[in-house]
Amino acid sequence: MNAISTPDPNPNMDLSARDFDSLSRFIGEASGIRISATKKTMVEGRLRGRVRALGFATLRDYCIYLFREGGLAEEGDRIIDAITTNKTDFFREVEHFHFLTHTALPELTRNGAFQGEPLRTWSCAASIGAEAYSLAMVLADYSSEVRSLRFSVLATDICNDVLGVGAEAIYPEAMTSPIPQHMRARYLMRSRDRSASEVRIVPELRERVSFARLNLVDPGYRLPTQMQIAFCRNVLIYFDKATQHTVLSRICESIVAGGYLFVGHSETITGFSLPLRQVAPTVFARV
Ligand SMILES: C[S@@+](CC[C@H](N)C(=O)[O-])C[C@H]1O[C@@H](n2cnc3c(N)ncnc32)[C@H](O)[C@@H]1O
Repeated sequence: MNAISTPDPNPNMDLSARDFDSLSRFIGEASGIRISATKKTMVEGRLRGRVRALGFATLRDYCIYLFREGGLAEEGDRIIDAITTNKTDFFREVEHFHFLTHTALPELTRNGAFQGEPLRTWSCAASIGAEAYSLAMVLADYSSEVRSLRFSVLATDICNDVLGVGAEAIYPEAMTSPIPQHMRARYLMRSRDRSASEVRIVPELRERVSFARLNLVDPGYRLPTQMQIAFCRNVLIYFDKATQHTVLSRICESIVAGGYLFVGHSETITGFSLPLRQVAPTVFARV
């Protein structure tokens, strides 16, 4: 779990070209994340914690341990946890939440696309849950206007470390400034210990949001049911074009006709053949 990477000045933490190739191949196959040669210093920095935790002196020793028989099965998930970039924010790319409130939710509730069932939403690369709880806040606000609206948010990610943070739903207060003031008052609880500078999402929202591990490149994953809204933001950038297409095709299968897909503002789906119609910048309707 990483927000930033720091170069490692320790020469014992250098990766040989061969170990780097083996690692980047494993990471690509296991997660779809492309690691180009320019990322070598980043990989060295991010694996340092694992090397120390296991008591090895060098990255070479760690690689011997890793690439022994059964090593990847044992340690592979830890590598993915260490390599993923989990940077996120509440109400990141805020136009998406405006579109949700002013266009998608009125459309969906008017069309009855979910026919009395709870509105199902999915944050498919959720990181620590800021995106999922932003969604939940918008939906909870909307449901206070449309009384019959019930909803759920499924938050999934490949990284185990972040899922625990999301389920706990405790965040540094400094992270909450993008949350609109009235939502902060309604949906955040302050710690009794004022010096802690932490807040927790209220139980009424926590009970609507569930966290689970899901690897978007795993061909075997199945969602329990189709979704009306899917957020797939700031994860496609880590995949090559072919993987992006495969991942998006699978996500489309998980969205009901008339539902919506949101991708990150620096991500594009141009050139892919997908059952989607663009309805706003980086927002698509499932056809
Ligand atoms: C930069 S964060 C984006 C978080 C959030 N969607 C946002 O836009 O703020 C990217 C997330 O994608 C996750 N990720 C990377 N590869 C994945 C995969 N193959 N399956 C599921 N999640 C993946 C990472 O663990 C990380 O938490």
